[in-house]
Amino acid sequence: MILVTGGLGFIGSHTCVSLLGAGHDVLVLDDLSNSSVDVLDRIERVAGRRPLFVRASVSDTDQLAEAFAQHDVGAVMHFAAFKAVAESVRLPLAYYDNNVGGTLALLSCMKAAGVRSLVFSSSATVYGSPATLPIREDCPRFAVNPYGRSKIIVEDILTDLAGSDPSWRIVNLRYFNPVGAHESGLLGEQPRGAPNNLMPRLLQVAVKQREVLDIFGDDYPTKDGSCVRDFIHVVDLADGHVAALRYLAEHSGMTSFNLGVGRGISVFEMCHAFEQSTGQSLPRRIVGRRAGDVAECWADATRAHTELNWRPNRDIDAMCRDAWRWQRHLCSENRGGSVCRP
Ligand code: UD1
Repeated sequence: MILVTGGLGFIGSHTCVSLLGAGHDVLVLDDLSNSSVDVLDRIERVAGRRPLFVRASVSDTDQLAEAFAQHDVGAVMHFAAFKAVAESVRLPLAYYDNNVGGTLALLSCMKAAGVRSLVFSSSATVYGSPATLPIREDCPRFAVNPYGRSKIIVEDILTDLAGSDPSWRIVNLRYFNPVGAHESGLLGEQPRGAPNNLMPRLLQVAVKQREVLDIFGDDYPTKDGSCVRDFIHVVDLADGHVAALRYLAEHSGMTSFNLGVGRGISVFEMCHAFEQSTGQSLPRRIVGRRAGDVAECWADATRAHTELNWRPNRDIDAMCRDAWRWQRHLCSENRGGSVCRP
């Protein structure tokens, strides 16, 4: 049984599908603070099997202890965390409490239960503004906001933990920019409130929920002036977690892996690809740079290729098509509702 914290979120839910597809049993622990219980039904429809579910926060050590006592948990995948950068600047204590405190609670319960295998969700945000590209795992880390610092702090805690006791097996996955959705169109990202990331905002423009897409800067020193990111299909990312689990079975200690495609795509290129793939037009306007954005960020994913034996194989066209299929599915479910305007 794999315990998946935050298993009803965007990346967590796709990973549940990949885990179930690979034959694992899954126990989801999620407090529904940024997700909906309907996602369990969606996972079941896509995967053909339903995960077990406990509604609880990772900070709730009683519920965690109970989950470990009742189920034969072999490994934990820890997705549950807050992830909005601007919010983290406003509410640093909430971010440290949930992202760092929650992880400490989880680790203590794992230790008490004798569960020593963990896959942790980190982020390329730990590299800050990278000095060299592509970014390798040994690049210096530098936090530019409390969210990024919370990830760096947890990475350091995990390093100390692995150093203290060789029975710990920890894989630290640094995600680049996950986009797309499950190809069935039944599972995808459902941000609560106003989204901040490019793809959900772009989808809002495509369904006319937002009039125009703001492009945050066209004067960066990049190939076309817009920022460049390593966009990765969420299903490829999810499959990376199954590969990480295989790796854990054979390796102790802690290892960090970049999960990205290893190719930089600009914001303009993404907009153009979306229009080409879906036939939708995206009205856009150039506005000022967004505070805290780095010009370019893409991965050297060689270590994940060679050591995890994992390779992403869905291209930018699939990322756009699948995200659009999911958006249309949401629109059809909310006919007459507020998700889409004709
Ligand atoms: C952001 C976070 C990062 C977090 C990641 C996943 C910031 C500064 N970084 O990454 O810490 O790990 O999300 O949640 O918030 N863009 C537009 N118009 C839009 C939206 C975005 O032009 O309406 C641009 C941005 O300026 C950026 C690119 O699109 O250049 C990608 O933005 P986004 O999807 O928010 O990802 P990151 O900023 O890379």
